[in-house]
Amino acid sequence: MLADHDALTLLRNRKPNHALEQPLYCDPGVFQADLDQLWYKDWLFAIPACEIPKTGNFVTMQVGAYPVVIVRGADKQIRAFHNVCRHRGQRLCSVVKGSSPKLVCPYHQWTYELDGRLLYARDMDKGFDPAAHGLKPVHCAVAGGLVFISLAKDAPAFEPLGASLNDYLAPHMLDEAKVVHTSTIVENGNWKLVIENNRECYHCGGNHPSLCRTFSDKPVITAPNDLGEATEVTRHWDRCEAAGLPSRFLLHPTAQWRLARVPLLDGAESYTMDTKRAVAKPLGRMPFFDAGSLLFFHYPNSWNHFLGDHAIVFRILPLTPTTTEVTTKWIVHKDAVEGVDFDMKRMTEVWLATNDEDRRVVEENQAGILSPAYEPGPYSSLHEDGVIQFIDWYANTMIQRLSPQPSAMAAE
Ligand code: FES
Ligand SMILES: [Fe+2]
Repeated sequence: MLADHDALTLLRNRKPNHALEQPLYCDPGVFQADLDQLWYKDWLFAIPACEIPKTGNFVTMQVGAYPVVIVRGADKQIRAFHNVCRHRGQRLCSVVKGSSPKLVCPYHQWTYELDGRLLYARDMDKGFDPAAHGLKPVHCAVAGGLVFISLAKDAPAFEPLGASLNDYLAPHMLDEAKVVHTSTIVENGNWKLVIENNRECYHCGGNHPSLCRTFSDKPVITAPNDLGEATEVTRHWDRCEAAGLPSRFLLHPTAQWRLARVPLLDGAESYTMDTKRAVAKPLGRMPFFDAGSLLFFHYPNSWNHFLGDHAIVFRILPLTPTTTEVTTKWIVHKDAVEGVDFDMKRMTEVWLATNDEDRRVVEENQAGILSPAYEPGPYSSLHEDGVIQFIDWYANTMIQRLSPQPSAMAAE
């Protein structure tokens, strides 16, 4: 098991534009460093807010060692708390999703208000102070209808991410939408392999027959960085922006997140086998169905597609050094009726198949990397620019956070 300084040495000595050394994809010490330095510090995508539309609706999630509950209060505000009772530490909510007028601990029934205040603790000693035993808060921010959490003591700045999401997602009106299908799978691969796989389409032609009906595997379309001239993509942006859809490529300077609305293949409307819309009702106030897909990724844990007729959000959570949970949710307008406005199988089949194909790719990738014969190979800067960018973000962020700080060095 590597210590932090060993991980730091591997990261500092890595070959640029190459995959990482084996321990960075499987070592328990590196996994713990990833949790400590990224997953317990950065903003993480949690859920679409429309998944908990009513007072008392809650969802739970597990981030490394931290169980978290996210709940909608009577004031309609969404808050996140450590899902740990302040009495003897029982996990408060054990289901993935539910609804409750108060949060009641199943062990001895301590009862919390939806804003975290302790309301009731039976027969505690004189002098017991309920006000000092409220649920511990977790940072929570909502933008564009997406809920993010941060486990950091002091959360990093949420802006300009929040303003950009509010702007780009406004036409999709996710607060007027609903989650109609959820898929959760576990991939036997390190979380970074899951993201790497997502950040390129070099593998698409050979692995995703159904996705390739509608999604281009050309980087110039799906990763439209540095477009110097008018192209199919810039014409798509012009048309969408004239119709009120923010679309242009937006990349945060740290490369932690990106937004861009890209066209689908040959005027396709949605990720369906016949390339036509899957849902008769547009998602929000989308002016046309062939608006392509608004792609949004945010490291370390999310990528998303917002289409004219529905949206698909993806969240990953690391379970062990070599297992990762991937949760996918399909979102439609709140008035869309299954069987009338959309057929569930038709809407979900392409990405269910694609997820399973990606799972196999990631698992085989992990299996090969575990061989003593594995040696980091070069990325293609044409097709794997997104991977290079992710690995650079990962390595630079880890190096910065693992390096001894000047003040700590002075104190030594
Ligand atoms: S541990 Fe929650 S009420 Fe006792
Ligand atoms: Fe894929």
